[in-house]
Amino acid sequence: MKALILSGGHGTRLRPLTYSQQKQLIPVANKPVLFYAIEDVIEAGIKDIGIIVGPNKEQVMETVNSVDWDAEIEFIYQGEPKGLAHAILVAEEFLDNEEFVMYLGDNILRGGIVDHANKFKELNPDSLILLTEVDEPQRFGVAELDENGRVKKLVEKPKVPPSNYALVGVYFFKPIIIEACKNIKPSWRNELEITDAIQWLIDNGYRVEASIVEGWWKDTGKPEDILEANRLILDDIQPKNEGKAENSRIMGRVVIESGTVIKDSVIKGPCVVGKNCRIVNSYIGPYTSIGNNCEIEGTEIEDSVIMDGSKIINAGRFVESLIGRNVKIQECNSKPRGYRFIVGDNSDIVL
Ligand code: G1P
Repeated sequence: MKALILSGGHGTRLRPLTYSQQKQLIPVANKPVLFYAIEDVIEAGIKDIGIIVGPNKEQVMETVNSVDWDAEIEFIYQGEPKGLAHAILVAEEFLDNEEFVMYLGDNILRGGIVDHANKFKELNPDSLILLTEVDEPQRFGVAELDENGRVKKLVEKPKVPPSNYALVGVYFFKPIIIEACKNIKPSWRNELEITDAIQWLIDNGYRVEASIVEGWWKDTGKPEDILEANRLILDDIQPKNEGKAENSRIMGRVVIESGTVIKDSVIKGPCVVGKNCRIVNSYIGPYTSIGNNCEIEGTEIEDSVIMDGSKIINAGRFVESLIGRNVKIQECNSKPRGYRFIVGDNSDIVL
């Protein structure tokens, strides 16, 4: 079996972060979201992985290639983000008439995909889709099941959802899906929808089965989803301290990477602090991820994601914040006093 992992698209709902960073590379617990998908696929025994790349293809390739994966990884360029079914058509040559799992690179599943891959092998359907119950089904593709739990109908982002079962971004397919993708028309958002391609399978007498996701699942499409995914991942971390702590209290499950110095501070887990950081006279509270090469001084931070190279000095108290790379936030100590902002388009500030 092969795997097709999607790492394209513009990530408009995650602006301004996605002006400079491909959305699947945004870190959750200091690891790019995309890496969770790659790890799940490898854990399921798949060695042949195609990654669909789009606007920031160099960035994705460089980040993925910085790790020595136990798999062959090929990058496939999708010139325009014309939908998930379009991505399959772009990858037709790579897929080479084999069965495959398609995994959206901005999705994180706590339980991985091993059980679902086994179910696909056992039931041997034309497609196996992963479903989970959600509170706002209108944000997703939604499935209607018959009394035997078989998929009857799929709708993309319905105004009136037929059920609470959302399509998780992991799908198993036999090669017949290529024909389905060739036979559908673009949707109202001008995309070739994977939901329509799967509906084509159902309408043409092919068998589509469902597998329910038991643990948590997160589509990291919006800023609050990144913070929530960060909390969920940090809930499971194993403590490790490779840094140096002086006159500080480290409580609960905390990961501190090498080269990091913590001085006169309190760190309360679950949280992670990356490599070569300097944390002085500060409080880092639960559910916080601090990237590599950050400097935090005289500041309290809780329930937040701070990315590589950012510097936060005497800046009060931060909660539920998502701070990009190389951001500087510091107290104003010259006249005229006041907030001084240099913020990019679509930034979001709450004072
Ligand atoms: C896509 C799919 C949708 C699915 C979702 C899961 O939505 O079209 O059916 O429920 O991924 O993450 P999109 O992220 O393109 O809005």
